[in-house]
Amino acid sequence: MLLLFAIPALYVGNQACSECHAEIYQRYSTSPMALSSGRELPALRTGAFRHAASKVSYAIDAKGLVTLSKGKHSEQRQLRYYFGSGVAGRSFGFVRDGFLFEAPVTWYSQTGVWDVSPGYASDTASRWSRPIEPSCLFCHASQTRWREGTLNAYAEPVFTQDGIGCERCHGPGSLHIAGEGKMVNPAKLAPERRDGVCAQCHLTGQSRVVRAGRRMVDYRPGDLLTDFVAHLVPVEQGGFQVNSHVEKLAASACKRAAGNKMWCGSCHDAHAVPAPAEKVAWFRAKCLNCHQASTCARGPDCAGCHMPKDKASDAGGHGVFTDHSIPRTAASRVGLQDVAGKWKLRGWSAADAGDRELGLAYAEAGVRTGDRHQQAEAIRLLSSATQDAEVQTRLGDLQERAGKPEQAVALYRGALRNDPGAVVALVNLGRLYGSGGALDAAIRLWREALKRNPCLAEAGTNLQIALRAKGDEAGAEAVRRGQAFCVFE
Ligand code: HEC
Ligand code: HEC
Ligand code: HEC
Ligand code: HEC
Ligand code: HEC
Ligand code: HEC
Ligand code: HEC
Repeated sequence: MLLLFAIPALYVGNQACSECHAEIYQRYSTSPMALSSGRELPALRTGAFRHAASKVSYAIDAKGLVTLSKGKHSEQRQLRYYFGSGVAGRSFGFVRDGFLFEAPVTWYSQTGVWDVSPGYASDTASRWSRPIEPSCLFCHASQTRWREGTLNAYAEPVFTQDGIGCERCHGPGSLHIAGEGKMVNPAKLAPERRDGVCAQCHLTGQSRVVRAGRRMVDYRPGDLLTDFVAHLVPVEQGGFQVNSHVEKLAASACKRAAGNKMWCGSCHDAHAVPAPAEKVAWFRAKCLNCHQASTCARGPDCAGCHMPKDKASDAGGHGVFTDHSIPRTAASRVGLQDVAGKWKLRGWSAADAGDRELGLAYAEAGVRTGDRHQQAEAIRLLSSATQDAEVQTRLGDLQERAGKPEQAVALYRGALRNDPGAVVALVNLGRLYGSGGALDAAIRLWREALKRNPCLAEAGTNLQIALRAKGDEAGAEAVRRGQAFCVFE
């Protein structure tokens, strides 16, 4: 008997599709998704600015060389990768010793200026220490080369397919290009699998929690997204700040009435964006696939009135600009109400279930907002969940906040048995050991943490203090030098 083993298809990159699908390849290559990241910097507009809070001056040249200066002190840093096609803005990656960080400078295309990146405005120093983790690359780049066990180390180049590759929506293509397999066509999938193709990047919810033992990079078009990740949102429907396109569309009267007939592909061509002069007619035609022109004779620009634009947010391009809740009138817009006092979370869909995932989302929200209800609910749910490293680390952190360091120590130890690279557990357990006088144990943990991300400020500072306390000046100085690039002041 002949045994056939299914050989999984591998990623081959966009170039391999160009020969047979030349027209789509050409069209897609200029779309914002194709240009959402790159290994080669385009020629940049030169610029200079002084950041008030840190008193650091920045000058950026056409090749992405950044000159930092403050008083007589001056240094240069090279921008290496870009993120964002530039519709709203463009951020940059900076590499040091194989670790990838977000640069503190961003190009804001709508205003045509360079300034500090979103979230850096009130910093009193120039920080080059924000790690670019695999989750960021997942949405903006393809075929990434993360070094397992670290937070933000990669083989160079960090990704081998710029932007959103064809295969992110169609599945790996090695068998298909050899004439041995069909590609996934999202439009032909069952609705929940179809919607997952776009939702893998366009649904954020309040939290997205990767399921135990799963990795987002293993998701393939055609899979159920909810097998890989759960999305958690506030319980109060409509009474919250919806912040992704999938959530907003789901709130629309169109989607609620049309159901599975409506999806992102009802209005968008995933391969191209209509030219400015064609936009009104393009979207009108999409509306008229479901509506009669006579229903509303107020003009041809249906989307202009029913999908108004929000002011460009300063959240680094994140957040919906075009209102996908398709309001009847401006007054009936949803999603902008206050959320004070509404602390309960739920799965985005019935399939976004799981006590572990809900508990991790409560922990994330509770730590961010300081909400006691959320923290208590997180402890309740996570205590009865299977104890994997992520659950133990979160629970440890919550127990520490609740004033129970002994429980926290046990949980962090458990986390490190399950995952010796759990960075938060390394840093926090080190701190608990250090404050209990166990300096050698603390030093060992902090060194391990810094191997996974050399810019961890707390671990670096504490490690220097501990080494000095042991009389190891040279060791402390080496740690200080190793972190010198993380901040310029
Ligand atoms: C050697 C020529 C060739 C290459 C290279 C090629 N394709 Fe195709 N592709 C075809 C042919 C022929 C069909 C129609 C038959 C079929 O569906 O397999 C097709 C169909 C498709 C379909 C439609 C499937 C459906 O069911 O509607 C998609 C999507 C697709 N290709 C994507 C890709 C992508 C992405 C790449 C690059 C990774 C690629 N193709 C590379 C020849 C090619
Ligand atoms: C869950 C997916 C996701 C993650 C994670 C993510 N982004 Fe985005 N990003 C998007 C989407 C989708 C857009 C398009 C606008 C929108 O929908 O908000 C976007 C827009 C942007 C833009 C503006 C693009 C433009 O052309 O105007 C920049 C810059 C950007 N992201 C940088 C980053 C960086 C840097 C990270 C990681 C540190 C990151 N993003 C993490 C999905 C993501
Ligand atoms: C963001 C997701 C996405 C990306 C990226 C993407 N596609 Fe598609 N593609 C789709 C969707 C959705 C459809 C179905 C369109 C429909 O029929 O409504 C499709 C349809 C197709 C088809 C079959 C239908 C046709 O028009 O011939 C081919 C072939 C194809 N894509 C090739 C490619 C190639 C080659 C690339 C990269 C150059 C690419 N796609 C990038 C989402 C994507
Ligand atoms: C791998 C992640 C990923 C997937 C999958 C994905 N997108 Fe995107 N999409 C993005 C990012 C990131 C941007 C922002 C691009 C930029 O400007 O840098 C974006 C931008 C867009 C835009 C805005 C283009 C513009 O006009 O600026 C549309 C529309 C869009 N996506 C639709 C879709 C649809 C429809 C699907 C599913 C068929 C899909 N996307 C799948 C990540 C993704
Ligand atoms: C897939 C089908 C579909 C598409 C595409 C679609 N709609 Fe709808 N829409 C519906 C259905 C069904 C309803 C509910 C019944 C009705 O009011 O006609 C609806 C309702 C509405 C309403 C009433 C909202 C309210 O709160 O009462 C407006 C306004 C609207 N659509 C505008 C648009 C615009 C503008 C477009 C294009 C940008 C569009 N729709 C595209 C199916 C669709
Ligand atoms: C009823 C039509 C319609 C549907 C359905 C729709 N969009 Fe859009 N979308 C638009 C319009 C109109 C724009 C504005 C285009 C422009 O002005 O360039 C837009 C813009 C966008 C943008 C650019 C950023 C912004 O907010 O302006 C992204 C990203 C996007 N849509 C993603 C999606 C995703 C993901 C889905 C599915 C969950 C989806 N859209 C479903 C009509 C639609
Ligand atoms: C100049 C702004 C404007 C334009 C352009 C426009 N609408 Fe409207 N639309 C409105 C207003 C205002 C209402 C009525 C709201 C009310 O009085 O409740 C409305 C109502 C509607 C309704 C609800 C009708 C009902 O009786 O329930 C639909 C559906 C709709 N529009 C679809 C469209 C479509 C499709 C287009 C494009 C062909 C379009 N609109 C163009 C402003 C506009």
